[in-house]
Amino acid sequence: MSSPALSRESLDAIRSEGDVNLSPRRREWSAEHIGAAAQTTLAEDARHFLHQSLSTPCLNVLAKAEGSWIEDVEGRRYLDFHGNNVHQVGFSHPRVVAAIKQQLDDLSFCTRRYTCEPAVELARRLGELAPGDLNRVLFAPGGTSAIGMALKLARIATGRFKFVSMWDSFHGASLDAISIGGEAVFRKGIGPLLPGCEHVPPPEPLRCPFKCGTACNLGCADYIDYVLEKEGDVAAVIGETIRCTPFVPPPDYWKRVRAACDKHGALLILDEIPIGLGRTGKFFACEHYDVVPDLLVLGKGLGGGVFPLAALLAREGLNVATHTALGHYTHEKNPVACAAGLATLDIIRDEHLVEHAAQLGEYTLARLRELKARYPLIGDVRGKGLLLGIELVRPSASPHAAPIPATDEAEQVMYAALKRGLNFKVTMGNILTLTPALVLTQAEMDQALAILDACLAEVSTQH
Ligand SMILES: Cc1ncc(COP(=O)(O)O)c(C=O)c1O
Repeated sequence: MSSPALSRESLDAIRSEGDVNLSPRRREWSAEHIGAAAQTTLAEDARHFLHQSLSTPCLNVLAKAEGSWIEDVEGRRYLDFHGNNVHQVGFSHPRVVAAIKQQLDDLSFCTRRYTCEPAVELARRLGELAPGDLNRVLFAPGGTSAIGMALKLARIATGRFKFVSMWDSFHGASLDAISIGGEAVFRKGIGPLLPGCEHVPPPEPLRCPFKCGTACNLGCADYIDYVLEKEGDVAAVIGETIRCTPFVPPPDYWKRVRAACDKHGALLILDEIPIGLGRTGKFFACEHYDVVPDLLVLGKGLGGGVFPLAALLAREGLNVATHTALGHYTHEKNPVACAAGLATLDIIRDEHLVEHAAQLGEYTLARLRELKARYPLIGDVRGKGLLLGIELVRPSASPHAAPIPATDEAEQVMYAALKRGLNFKVTMGNILTLTPALVLTQAEMDQALAILDACLAEVSTQH
């Protein structure tokens, strides 16, 4: 039942959201490190689950997840710098677990047409935390579903159906979400997508087709204004406030896009599913840009790293879909998920995780700059708070051409780090994406940086 490993050419074509699960290097790592019992479970996983890129066949078998750490069934512990971005408060936080246990005793499910106190309280708390008047809330059992609700509400509210979104973006894997998403691994060969979805270049100065280089003049934001004017009937512009890769848009980018939306009657939808709840050093990433969207989507860690839970936050004036079912999800007001959400908000507040993410992120970025100065393999380091990335490059043959993405080296560093107890994912083929739990201590961060240093040294000497 095993899937064949892919050739280098095929791998290059599908590198995007995460590292590739069919690479020869994955096979080698697995053969070297995974014992017989775990191999049996992996084989059973591969036998019973539908295979898909980015998951089955899987990497390893987990037994525990606690705080900033995961542990496999063979007792190896890894600092989890991926965590699917659900671990803002760390894994298995005792307050989240206690809140869930208590809620299971009190009320375990809320049948549709009824409401429950945890759901009302969580909606109220999110509305209070959100900037501007984003105080209308709708929950969904996952980020993709919440994105779908945002798109529907934007259509209903504007009476228009078109969307403008970014190439290379990710908003979920359903047909509507991949229509606005910009990654080939999700879009290729799947057939017709939603009509009216137009893509624009993302705000990434170094890759920008407008060739502004590091001296960005926001041509990409002005291009959105241009498209909105040309089309004249776009319902909404949707983007990730900061792409998880991470690419941090220039300071005025979202203000410029917000102004374009206002000028042309389009709504602005910001997807903060993996980066909200403090990861970037602000509770909401849009606070870095002093911009309030019309619709904002949260997810991932909202369920305390335990329950699938996402939220659509909308401006008061967008409460206009009374006669349409926007979500209608069975678990829309799941009391146990909402109790986990309330505990999560309490922990973020009481443990000062937003401030901690900002401070530890700044410290780490400075340390990553030191690594960059020592390893020519590092082309760029960047990020905000505990959303960090290291881009690996090789010099190109011509001194005038842009450096080449060091995809092979990135994969090597990733597997070398796993060997030493650090788990992270590689995005776009050559970006080591580092998103630890926000409860990570500075000592744990130092441990991770020492591992990265050792791996970069090891891989640099081989090339
Ligand atoms: C930016 C972004 N949007 C949407 C989603 C989809 O969320 P979910 O997997 O909960 O459906 C993700 C998930 O990785 C994401 O990173």
